Amino acid sequence: MELPFAESYKFKVVEVIRRSTREEREQWIRTARYNLFQLRSEQIFIDLLTDSGTGAMSDKQWAGIMTGDESYAGSTSYYKLKDSISDITGFPYFLPTHQGRAAENVLFSALIKEGHIVPGNSHFDTTKGHIEFRQASAVDCTIDEAFDTTLVHPFKGNVDLRKLEDVLKTSGERVPFIILTLTNNSAGGQPVSLENIHEVRKLADTYHKPVLFDSARFGENAYFIKLREPAYRNKTIREIVAEMFSCADMMTMSSKKDAIVNIGGFIAMRDQELYRQCSMFNIMFEGYITYGGLAGRDMNAIAQGLYEGIDFDFLETRIKQVEYLGNRLLDFNIPLQQPIGGHAIFVDARRFLPHLPKEEFPAQTLAIQLYLEAGVRGVEIGTLLADRDPVTRENRYPALDMLRLAIPRRVYTNNHMDVVAVALKNIFDRRENIKSGFRIIYEAPIMRHFTVELEPA
Ligand code: F0G
Repeated sequence: MELPFAESYKFKVVEVIRRSTREEREQWIRTARYNLFQLRSEQIFIDLLTDSGTGAMSDKQWAGIMTGDESYAGSTSYYKLKDSISDITGFPYFLPTHQGRAAENVLFSALIKEGHIVPGNSHFDTTKGHIEFRQASAVDCTIDEAFDTTLVHPFKGNVDLRKLEDVLKTSGERVPFIILTLTNNSAGGQPVSLENIHEVRKLADTYHKPVLFDSARFGENAYFIKLREPAYRNKTIREIVAEMFSCADMMTMSSKKDAIVNIGGFIAMRDQELYRQCSMFNIMFEGYITYGGLAGRDMNAIAQGLYEGIDFDFLETRIKQVEYLGNRLLDFNIPLQQPIGGHAIFVDARRFLPHLPKEEFPAQTLAIQLYLEAGVRGVEIGTLLADRDPVTRENRYPALDMLRLAIPRRVYTNNHMDVVAVALKNIFDRRENIKSGFRIIYEAPIMRHFTVELEPA
């Protein structure tokens, strides 16, 4: 008999979590104004809000925490991280930042001016926020297949080269760089193929534009390339990662994802002049260039985590867990973005609750139902997140309204996944009884989803 699959690690430390009653949860979510960001963590049983900063560090990472060098300038931890980054990505220059959006803030301060256009594959919300904050705009050139959740395509994160070339042809002089988000979070944790990465590089060369990788989940992207792109089947993850980064001029990184740490980020690049410009902004916004808002111990943990995040056995364990949850949900006929992505399940709320008007936020409604059912916290990736159009101030209704269930790395077992799956099934079985959604009673002008207040519609 073939041996079953099992995790490539075992537990050394645990944290107790507590179930609650439905009555408690009804009270708590009302107090939180139906915004799951406003709940206290002890009010949650299984927290799938994000896979960012929520992973479990390894014993080797904790060992690095104990040996961090806390010198203000020239810390050995900085050099250790610099060595890891250049070894894995090939970038000679790097700046630490406190997290991914800080990396965007520093880099974009050097590169983006009012009126610029930044094309790419579904910019993450902070990326888009940092672009729009500078009176510039983001153009989503993701392939159309990504927006049909029923369609199975191995690389739904890919850029539509025709859409990209249109932008470069018609407004090339306003494009400071092209961005590739690996994996494409907003489209469902969907990977970009190396073939597509090479094609984007070719177009960038034709139009003399640099390429930026938003690299938060670059290890997961490389894993999918190995599994789904026949030419790379026999390559190691390290080789695939090296080939990916050979196509980029610079990267921003949220280390809270594939470097499996609780805080941290960085920028890396090939160009010394750009490094110098960014250094100035880093010192102003983050901290001196050898710590950038991080403690030395954090940089040690990232230096180690970067290697663990591209370990094949780790990636296989992680992505198989996401797939496990996805397959259970598919067995219950629950509509999902397919194929199942790298870090999360994206439930298609418009297909789950087709009778709810889009103005009543179906994905947010589903997130609230899931919390009430089982104390599971997911997050809306849909209309609330999309904000209003910065010019017209009208609500933007994105192509997809999704409930994302992001799986923290090395944290939950498949028993937890079973609880989530059955909770969603129970809601699916009584979906016709969910007669209405929610309306906004308070919202911030940008990134409103974090603080929005709602009431039943
Ligand atoms: N880019 C991508 C693709 C991301 O997913 C995130 C964060 C960031 C940039 C920003 O990084 O949080 O370290 O400042 N995504 C988290 C999420 C928050 O839940 O998907 P950060």
